[in-house]
Amino acid sequence: MTTGPEREAEAQAGRETRREAGREAGLTALARGLSAPKGFVDASLAAPVPGTISLLGGIPAPEALPVEAFAKVSAQLWQDPDAALAGLQYARPHGSDALRHWIARREGVDPGRVLVTNGGMHGLTLAVLTVVERGATVAVDDPVFPGFLWALEVSTTRILPVPVVADGFDVEHLARRLAAGARIAAAYTVPDFHNPAQVSLSAPKRQALMELAERHGFHVIVDNPYRELRFAGQDQGTEVFNRSDRAIHVNSFTKTLGPGWRVGWLVLPEHLVDPVTRLRNRLDVHTSSVTQALIERLITDDADCFDRIVRGATALYRERAGALVDALREQLPGAFDVMAPEGGLFLWPRLTDDAVDPAALLRRAAAHGVIYQPGEYFEAEPGRGSSARHLRFAYSDRTPAQLREAVGRLARAF
Ligand SMILES: Cc1ncc(COP(=O)(O)O)c(C=O)c1O
Repeated sequence: MTTGPEREAEAQAGRETRREAGREAGLTALARGLSAPKGFVDASLAAPVPGTISLLGGIPAPEALPVEAFAKVSAQLWQDPDAALAGLQYARPHGSDALRHWIARREGVDPGRVLVTNGGMHGLTLAVLTVVERGATVAVDDPVFPGFLWALEVSTTRILPVPVVADGFDVEHLARRLAAGARIAAAYTVPDFHNPAQVSLSAPKRQALMELAERHGFHVIVDNPYRELRFAGQDQGTEVFNRSDRAIHVNSFTKTLGPGWRVGWLVLPEHLVDPVTRLRNRLDVHTSSVTQALIERLITDDADCFDRIVRGATALYRERAGALVDALREQLPGAFDVMAPEGGLFLWPRLTDDAVDPAALLRRAAAHGVIYQPGEYFEAEPGRGSSARHLRFAYSDRTPAQLREAVGRLARAF
């Protein structure tokens, strides 16, 4: 027999279900299938105590962003009536010629293969919509940049996780899975200064990955926003990607000129230039003419300007990464496996003592005023525990003194 309150609870649940169905009635399967934004793994990250030092975001240091240089080119643009009017008109879907030529020179490709996008995420979504059929399987880094899984949802949620090891995406692992019968439409990896795993894909493995893609007929979505930010070690090269007709090379000005510009680019194999351009033409027509004009002026009026910005940024990040690694080694000796980063914005240390509970440490650290992303946030298959013993520290927008203080607080949390 049901009681009055139980009947009311059932009726309430029924009303909720009908309301939910009503909300979804007019939506496409695509819109219904997109997941809600992934919240914080732990509530303590969303509501930090006052004075907390945040190591959460992989964002450029404010000091590294070229505010004055943009103020100058912006004033020049609006004082030049022809340039100002061009900035207010439609442009071509591929992007401005000057910008495409500049990018093509740096990438060592024909300008016809460059498409200017609205940032890296836009490039990833265009790549997925073009080469991943609905419901197909895509091999992805594990740990993975979560933004790629969101982009992937426009076509599929089926993934084949591939471990990221000391020299990057484990190509051998994927080769074994393919030999055992797995079929994929594409593979996704961040080859330089991985987010979150900090490592880079070695030159022989870049070659092996592209050979595997050519042999099995899948595309490789190569996501490379940290490429410019090297401060140690050897460049492993991107020619192997840019000369293959199986690679879609995605890049962005986000980590060098600032995420607010929303400008990036794709280097496409010849056969994908028209399909991707037609697709982008349906979605957003073209990247803002004004934005492109400003970036174009900044990087072409003074030939060394972009490299100067990059040199300034990498000098800052070298110092910050060094301060963080030294502080961890001094204040928490043996607590982590720590590898000094060679570039990028992240440190991905692993807890050495199995008795330390990462979730409890995260909460204690937050209570002591330091927050970071737990490794589990980046697992390709959440809950599997593949990254549970890692922490991701983003050091880019914190000073060396703040980083030392953050490690001091972490040490107290231990
Ligand atoms: C690996 C990776 N790819 C892509 C992006 C997105 O870049 P954008 O801001 O240009 O969309 C990010 C941003 O953090 C990233 O870490």
